[in-house]
Amino acid sequence: MNYSNSKVPNSSLIARSSLAMAVAHAMAATPVTNTRCSLSGNGEASTSLVASSSGTKVTRAVLSGCRDKKRVVVCLRRRQGKDSRQFKEQSSLNVGAGVLEGAPPATRDEPTIVEVDLGDRSYPIYIGPGLLNQPELLQRHVKGKKVLVVTNTKVAPLYLDRTIAALKHGRFNVEVESVILPDGEKYKDLPTLTQVFDKAIQTHMDRRCTFVALGGGVIGDMCGYAAASYLRGVNFIQIPTTLMAQVDSSVGGKTGVNHPLGKNMIGAFYQPQCVLVDTDTLNTLPDRELASGVAEVIKYGLIRDAKFFEWQEKNLEALLARDPATLAYAVKRSCENKAEVVSLDEREGGVRATLNLGHTFGHAIEAGIGYGGWLHGEAVAAGTVMSADMSLRMGWIDETLFNRALELLKRANLPVSPPDSMNIQTFKSIMAVDKKVADGLLRLILLKGSLGNCVFTGEYDPKALDQTLSAFCKS
Ligand SMILES: NC(=O)c1ccc[n+]([C@@H]2O[C@H](COP(=O)([O-])OP(=O)(O)OC[C@H]3O[C@@H](n4cnc5c(N)ncnc54)[C@H](O)[C@@H]3O)[C@@H](O)[C@H]2O)c1
Ligand SMILES: [Zn+2]
Repeated sequence: MNYSNSKVPNSSLIARSSLAMAVAHAMAATPVTNTRCSLSGNGEASTSLVASSSGTKVTRAVLSGCRDKKRVVVCLRRRQGKDSRQFKEQSSLNVGAGVLEGAPPATRDEPTIVEVDLGDRSYPIYIGPGLLNQPELLQRHVKGKKVLVVTNTKVAPLYLDRTIAALKHGRFNVEVESVILPDGEKYKDLPTLTQVFDKAIQTHMDRRCTFVALGGGVIGDMCGYAAASYLRGVNFIQIPTTLMAQVDSSVGGKTGVNHPLGKNMIGAFYQPQCVLVDTDTLNTLPDRELASGVAEVIKYGLIRDAKFFEWQEKNLEALLARDPATLAYAVKRSCENKAEVVSLDEREGGVRATLNLGHTFGHAIEAGIGYGGWLHGEAVAAGTVMSADMSLRMGWIDETLFNRALELLKRANLPVSPPDSMNIQTFKSIMAVDKKVADGLLRLILLKGSLGNCVFTGEYDPKALDQTLSAFCKS
């Protein structure tokens, strides 16, 4: 895609127009109790403690969820600071490989396991190449005898047969049905969701059935919401096949569909039983989709993981070239970041909102130009630059940090400003119905301090928001 008409306004530009946001300014604070996200007296959620203590905390969060020996070993290895390559070299584990008699040729690759620690709803994220060839990984999370795979017209020809084979392998009494939805963000809606319920009812999916999401974030979000509401909740597994879904959307239990008036406006929090990330599936992903996922990877670095950001600055080209070890590390580190945030704040009382850096502007772009016009990560990339611009205007970050964020997004071939068709009024009217509006106040995630620090707050200078919108929009 050509983003040549995308422009980055001079961040020192002072817009003169005084914009009246449709939102009032009264901060509604939601207390959060953890060491990573502090709420100041004015209700500002901050992740400023994260950079200094992330290593220890990740381990603790993960260790407390290690329920069996295999996981504890993996968790302890992580504690010792091994990266995913070292796991493979040193691990003596053999999770899933050759467990079933007559199993399809199991790869010798052992998954890295990142645990999402949510008490009795904890679950593992298995990460590695060739995992779709390890049936036991999936089967241990299937309850009952009926499975419904939800996928789309693009992914089905690539991975549906292999998924069904893995689910059925050695289990002749398991019935696997599938429903193939039309492909694209524009079908992430209620009418399309009905097709899943139709198929589930027609094929007599019962309360013990399992819904399996096979695809990118659109399929994951839709299948998850269907699983949350079918018979008031059935078992659910995520098999994410885009980078976006592997590093972000498949983890954390946010599910739902879009409404013409707003992105993801209808949905539920609903956690899967497991997430199976077969990194080999990324080999068929178009470059543009890969870059879209990179936008979320960059986000983790900016909001809470300075070291990861620095690693990205050094390894971005290898990541875009799909070097397997680089991809695997990016997925693992992203999942660790997301798992930790979700473990701390499952229902987005505070710190989880920081995962939405750039998303308030980004969602406005997605809805404003029509779903599917830009990819989610593309809209997030432009939104991230707008958030950083606002932070810079308020003196919350220095110009060097702004430029580092801008440069990395540009190197990833992502757009760094909204499309020309977005005007100030469109931004304002869509942002006014953002899910982060509370009691009429629009709260935003803004960078603050050194690299890896951000705040979720309604206490910002509204003029800075006006100036950012003016600087990035032609009208
Ligand atoms: N739930 C969450 O926490 C969360 C987080 C981030 C994003 N999201 C949502 O995720 C969606 C975006 O996800 P996405 O970027 O994965 O988009 P997507 O699901 O539309 O997938 C992108 C495209 O790639 C195709 N595809 C998928 N896997 C492929 C493969 N292995 N090879 C070739 N093509 C493949 C898809 O069919 C589609 O055409 C948005 O709706 C966004 O709101 C949700
Ligand atoms: Zn996102």
